[in-house]
Amino acid sequence: MGRTEWDHNAWYHHLLLRQVPAGAQRVLEVGCGAGSLARRLAAVVPRVDAIDRSPEMVAEARRLAPHNLALHLADAMDVDLPAGAYDAVVSSSVLHHLPLAHTLPRMAGWLRPGGVLAAVALPRIDLPRELPVELAATTVHHGLGLAFASLRPVTGAALFRHEPSHDVMPIAEPTLTAREVRRRAAAVLPGVRVRRLVLWRYLLTWRKPL
Ligand SMILES: C[S@@+](CC[C@H](N)C(=O)[O-])C[C@H]1O[C@@H](n2cnc3c(N)ncnc32)[C@H](O)[C@@H]1O
Repeated sequence: MGRTEWDHNAWYHHLLLRQVPAGAQRVLEVGCGAGSLARRLAAVVPRVDAIDRSPEMVAEARRLAPHNLALHLADAMDVDLPAGAYDAVVSSSVLHHLPLAHTLPRMAGWLRPGGVLAAVALPRIDLPRELPVELAATTVHHGLGLAFASLRPVTGAALFRHEPSHDVMPIAEPTLTAREVRRRAAAVLPGVRVRRLVLWRYLLTWRKPL
C-alpha cells in the first residue's frame, strides 16, 4: 500500500459519532470490524454493543475493548438483539455488504422510539451525474494523503493510517448508487435521508418516530 493511502472509513467515524443523540445510554454498532469506531463510541456512551460476522475482526476488536463495550460474533441478518433497546444504531462501511430491504427494517427494530439510525457506506459511482464529486474526491484524497504522510513523522500521530488489520478486513464492492440507496431506503424507512459524501461514501440517517 502506498504511503499516501489513508483510511476513509476512519475519516467518517467522527461524522457518525455526531449523529448519536445527546445523552444516549446504549448504542449498537453493526459490522464493527477491528473496533475503532466502537471504542470511540464507548468513550462517550455508557453501554455499547458491537457485532461483526468475521471471527478475525471480533478477536482483534476484543483485544482493545474497554469494559463497557460488548463484542459479539454475529451476523446482522439473523442476530437476535433486543427490540427497541438502543438510542442509536450506527454502522460504518457495512450497508453495501447487505440487502437494504431486509437490513434497514431490522436495524430500525432495534431502536427505541426517537432513536437514530446512522450509517456511512460505499455507493457505486454514478457517472456522469457525479463527475464533479468524483473529481473532488480524487483531489481531496491525494491532497490529504500527502499532508498526512508528511505530518506523521513530525507529529508521531497516526493521522488516518490504515490499521494493521486492514489487509484482512472483509470488503465488498458497492452495487447501488447513492440515488438507488435513497430510493430503496425510502421504501422501507419513510423520512430517511441519504447524502452523498465526497470520499466515496454516503451518509444514511433516520430517526424512529415517537
Ligand atoms: C469494510 S469493513 C468496515 C469495518 C468497520 N466498521 C470500519 O469502519 O472500519 C466491513 C465489516 O462488516 C462486516 N460485515 C459484513 N457483513 C456483515 C453481516 N451480515 N453481519 C455482521 N457484520 C458484517 C465485515 O465482517 C467487516 O468487518
